[in-house]
Amino acid sequence: MSATISGFSKLSKSKKIDWIVETYFSNKEEAKKIIKQYWNTNLSLQNLHDEFIENTITNYYLPFGVAPNFSINGKMHTIPMAIEESSVVAAASKSAKFWLARGGFKTQVISTTKIGQVHFMYAGDFKTLENFFNAVKKQLIADAKPITKNMEKRGGGILDIVLKNKSKAISGYYQLHATFETQDAMGANFINSCLEQFAKTFKAEAEKQLQETIEIVMSILSNYVPDCLVRAEVSCQLEDLPKDDFNAEKFVQAVAIAEVEPYRAVTHNKGIMNGIDAVVLATGNDFRAVEAGVHAYASRNGSYSSLTHAKIENGVFHFWMEIPLALGTVGGLTNLHPLVKLALELLHQPSAKELMQIVAVAGLAQNFAALRSLTTTGIQEGHMKMHLMNILNQMEATEKEKETLVNYFKTNTVTHSAVVKAFNDLRKKNN
Ligand code: MEV
Repeated sequence: MSATISGFSKLSKSKKIDWIVETYFSNKEEAKKIIKQYWNTNLSLQNLHDEFIENTITNYYLPFGVAPNFSINGKMHTIPMAIEESSVVAAASKSAKFWLARGGFKTQVISTTKIGQVHFMYAGDFKTLENFFNAVKKQLIADAKPITKNMEKRGGGILDIVLKNKSKAISGYYQLHATFETQDAMGANFINSCLEQFAKTFKAEAEKQLQETIEIVMSILSNYVPDCLVRAEVSCQLEDLPKDDFNAEKFVQAVAIAEVEPYRAVTHNKGIMNGIDAVVLATGNDFRAVEAGVHAYASRNGSYSSLTHAKIENGVFHFWMEIPLALGTVGGLTNLHPLVKLALELLHQPSAKELMQIVAVAGLAQNFAALRSLTTTGIQEGHMKMHLMNILNQMEATEKEKETLVNYFKTNTVTHSAVVKAFNDLRKKNN
């Protein structure tokens, strides 16, 4: 069969599967079996998932785990996490317990402003454009009223629109730079609808009032949200830190290295995103938007740097992070995906502000666990213990064999080859 097809999206699900199986797989029956193995027998649930995207052929599972014992501003939370990496939930739980005994996590939402831009080209004089913008600004907001009415009832809406002159960067390039408050919604649809309305009004009025025409290039929200910021922190007396498996000075040095060294900062921040993405995903939020915004923020001073900071001052260990997070707890998947609804109920139906704080804590906790291991035992000890189960599953070990080998590796170093050897030895012995 040809690897090119037209009208694919119009085929039924089973015809789509037939086509890909015929075109790409040598063992066609096996491929079909795997695809169908992940279908849900509850047809309405399966339909719901099918309709999230186009051309769905099956479901892609990720483990949905929980990390209990998080004290955040004195309130207890069990945090839901959807992630495939074996050590992440265990690390989060360990950090939660550690800080529960030392006052818990403290958080604060610093700001919640979101941004959108209408990018346009204009060949005329800037002063004329500026006067026109100032005259039409009220109308831009008024024409968007049908879109903003409900959001305003919830305390949100358009905060401001300013005209930005970008013509030094690209000749004739200007922006309507708008700021928004979207309350409990992530706000992408709301912001984009407002921006498209601004563009319409702006262009139409320009045609009536200006000599030079305006060419709208695009209208879109920005996922860079440096003014939608949350802070999470922990602190305790140095003497309250364990002596054997914690080294506060080295911990602070490790953070300082990530502050100045981009190669380390990227991995350091990746560890933070292990915690953040897992909660963002479990709560039905857009992890790509969060990732893009967070990494841009990490480079805001011109060099990619650590998102977390640490210091020891007057005998107190401090560890904190400020991070931009545009999240929603209404709209989008939050009303649709049963597991997302469950995750939000588990989190006491948080507002978007509360979710920002929970997500930031998951990131800080994850970084704490990583740096604690890295500066003491090294990361592999814990990682490989968690990885042991993956290797045993890959080799199709029985429950009895897993039990024996997990016991064996309590006192032996886990490496891939050591696990394979121990597994083969055990099989030989038992056969
Ligand atoms: C692994 O997923 C994350 C770490 O590499 C983070 C770090 O190095 O800080 C352990």
